[in-house]
Amino acid sequence: MSKQLQLTDSEIELQKEYLQKVRAVLSARFYDRTPKAYIHTYGCQGNVADSERIMGMLSEMGYGFTEDLSEADFVLYNTCAVREHAEDRVFGNVGILKKYKEENHNLIIALCGCMMQQQHIRDKIYKSYPYVDLVFGTYVIHRLPELVYKTISGKKRVVCADEGNGAIAENTPVYRDKSVKAWLPIMYGCDNFCTYCIVPYVRGRERSREPEQIIAEAKNIISKGYKEITLLGQNVNSFGKNNKSDMNFAGLLREINALDGEFKIRFMTSHPKDCTKELIDTIAECDKVSKHLHLPFQSGNDRVLKAMNRHYDRKKYLELVNYAKEKIPDLSLTSDVIVGFPGETYEEFKDTLSLIKEVEFTSLFTFIYSARKGTKAAEMPDPVSREEKGKWFQELLDVQEEIAARRTAYMNGKVFNVLVEGESKNKEGWLSGRTDANIIIEFPATEEQKNVIGTYQNIKVTEALNWILRGELQQS
Ligand code: SAH
Ligand code: SF4
Ligand code: F3S
Repeated sequence: MSKQLQLTDSEIELQKEYLQKVRAVLSARFYDRTPKAYIHTYGCQGNVADSERIMGMLSEMGYGFTEDLSEADFVLYNTCAVREHAEDRVFGNVGILKKYKEENHNLIIALCGCMMQQQHIRDKIYKSYPYVDLVFGTYVIHRLPELVYKTISGKKRVVCADEGNGAIAENTPVYRDKSVKAWLPIMYGCDNFCTYCIVPYVRGRERSREPEQIIAEAKNIISKGYKEITLLGQNVNSFGKNNKSDMNFAGLLREINALDGEFKIRFMTSHPKDCTKELIDTIAECDKVSKHLHLPFQSGNDRVLKAMNRHYDRKKYLELVNYAKEKIPDLSLTSDVIVGFPGETYEEFKDTLSLIKEVEFTSLFTFIYSARKGTKAAEMPDPVSREEKGKWFQELLDVQEEIAARRTAYMNGKVFNVLVEGESKNKEGWLSGRTDANIIIEFPATEEQKNVIGTYQNIKVTEALNWILRGELQQS
């Protein structure tokens, strides 16, 4: 028997009933037009995937979508709590909504996502933002029809967070964008409790979907013409621990790799403590798995890693990376780093710099430590000033920039097989795609050549900027 919780049939039926009730209310209220929803997603791809499920349900309720706030009847912000900056942006943007509510009293304003799992945030919303109508947490997304119904049919504000047992809701509709890439969640939550991180508190215990559900969804994605599937989880390497099936993550990769069709597989995120040689061998052997590994190391210093509760040391990390480089010669490595963890000294920070120089990552996601209420690190003495941390941060950026420039210069003149994703955001008339190593490459295209969008093409690099390549389309 699976230890994972699945929703019961009666819970699913109940939501279907609410869905019909919402449809009825909306069609009476908006008899001459389709009501419009505006959805904005903050944070990680896990949130993006949740928003796709939310949009799937809203669409079945009868909502269309808009990117223009002024024509919205329903606004939803799906929030992120990982750093203070992310939260500040949400509060700023919720503040702006006041004027839209004043102009349109029927506007429904809803907030969901990781911030809403925190009591102090809900209190602040309740007190300071009285025009927010609906607040719901990360465990109750599948109850959206019920929550929307209560909001649109009642006069009271609806708050539903801190409830639910994290049961996995299979078969909720998914509204994917029309691009060539699809997100596919394979697990939820996190059990690692890195001392700086809020995610385990706002996303709950780790739970994996059953492989047959994931594979069915992957087949569906491929049949719809998507060319890239990114498997999502906070720690994909511990996939499947409590499942009925004994398939681990490497096994899942092999199964998806064996599916018919022209597509690539990516995944994130890998935790070094659970990253195995078996996984690296699997990446090397599976032709559809991109040769890219995002393996966050956070710090290059053993004392800091221990204080972060990361369960690996510098030596183990470097061993893994060296094994991966040996097995997969054209591997692209990327990582996350935190600068200024409480109590980190400059000497310790220099170990992070030396690790970066040693590994030569393709790119880095770099963060200055941000204290999160309720985490262990938030209680630790943190004597180094923000200004000082800012200087270290800049030093790190400078070092990485030099490495990235060297790495991309090396790509000049080479030909890469690239998934063409769409029009470039930087240059008019150009198209943009990504190499297998996840580096953006842009190239000029005539009107007729635009039909290569959504296909894999060979592009020759003609100019290597620091983190973006420019090139030309090769005749096929
Ligand atoms: N599960 C992933 C990371 C998810 S959060 C993993 O373990 O690799 C994404 C990144 O945000 C983390 O890797 C970390 O570098 C950063 N991060 C998380 N909490 C943070 C905090 N309190 N302050 C600064 N950066 C943080
Ligand atoms: Fe946060 Fe650590 Fe879990 Fe990643 S593994 S989500 S950093 S607690
Ligand atoms: Fe943010 Fe929640 Fe993802 S805190 S990073 S949106 S899991």
